Amino acid sequence: MSSTINTVAVLGGTGNIGTHIVRGLLVGGFTVTILTRANSSSPRPTFDPYPVRFLEVDYSSPSSLASAFQGQDAVVSTIATGAVQEQMKVIDAAIEAGVKRFVPSEFGVHTRKEGVEKTKLGGLLEGKRAVVDYLISKEGDISWTGLSTGLFFDSALSKGLAGINVKNGTATIVDSGNELWPASLRSHVGRTVSEILRHPDLTKNQYLATASFNVSQNQLVKLVEELTGKKLEVTNVSSKDILQQGDEKLNKGDYIGAFVAFLQVHFLADGAGNKLEEQESANEKLRLQTEDVKAALRGWLESEGLLAA
Ligand SMILES: NC(=O)c1ccc[n+]([C@@H]2O[C@H](COP(=O)([O-])OP(=O)(O)OC[C@H]3O[C@@H](n4cnc5c(N)ncnc54)[C@H](OP(=O)(O)O)[C@@H]3O)[C@@H](O)[C@H]2O)c1
Repeated sequence: MSSTINTVAVLGGTGNIGTHIVRGLLVGGFTVTILTRANSSSPRPTFDPYPVRFLEVDYSSPSSLASAFQGQDAVVSTIATGAVQEQMKVIDAAIEAGVKRFVPSEFGVHTRKEGVEKTKLGGLLEGKRAVVDYLISKEGDISWTGLSTGLFFDSALSKGLAGINVKNGTATIVDSGNELWPASLRSHVGRTVSEILRHPDLTKNQYLATASFNVSQNQLVKLVEELTGKKLEVTNVSSKDILQQGDEKLNKGDYIGAFVAFLQVHFLADGAGNKLEEQESANEKLRLQTEDVKAALRGWLESEGLLAA
């Protein structure tokens, strides 16, 4: 059987990272079908000048999924974090339909890194780990590639996830603010997935990691101030306090709040050690260009109308 991949079904291709992955695949020359729930309220994006097909699926129906996967060489799942457990049924249906490659909804924390499973964040990511474990157990039937990306640089800035809120003119610095963490522009994630599928033999049954660059909070504050000409109001917070707040949120059942707290500690705390080391990165293997932090930040500030003309 040829390992070449031409047709790709993207689950959740209407979402935050899904739209960027769909665009990356279209630019890479793949024929893309976006699978969307019948009761979805997600707006349907356009990808001019590329044509894209939308297909409604019922994730609770194996036959609906298997019929949607007929003729698809690969399935890329970008479904929302809260729905990752749905992927087990999806994988079974992909196997039944003869799909060659499955890319699970990872795209963030390196969930296979040794020791992550023992952390509080790792506990909340157990569903993602279980999906990759399942894929490993099914390697005789379908191949897979997982991808960790660090924080999405542009959406982390928009949502203040990295502690920097340019719109409000504030920065909350965790510990010293010097820790380097991996960040990927969402367009970079789209290109990476496209390159993974263009090189199916090179990427078969592997968990890969990429990033546009490593950056620290302090570097970002300096660059924001330099580019906007405005000082940010800086507050300092210890990772110990953030962890405690995360625990309190978890005890109250606020999983999203707890997840954000643990995520910040995972990447931003002094000594976290989660920057992307060159030897762990798939960038060279996939001939992906790294990006310049300042240029990426300037692009984001411009897109948000935060740079004086
Ligand atoms: N690295 C980072 O900084 C970062 C940030 C955010 C997310 N992520 C990761 O990226 C992946 C995708 O997250 P996202 O933020 O892009 O997701 P999202 O935009 O919240 O959702 C993606 C799509 O999933 C579908 N969906 C939503 N709820 C669903 C459900 N209950 N069952 C099945 N499908 C459902 C929707 O598509 P339809 O409505 O068309 O069906 C939606 O457009 C996740 O693994 C997440 O953890 C990483």
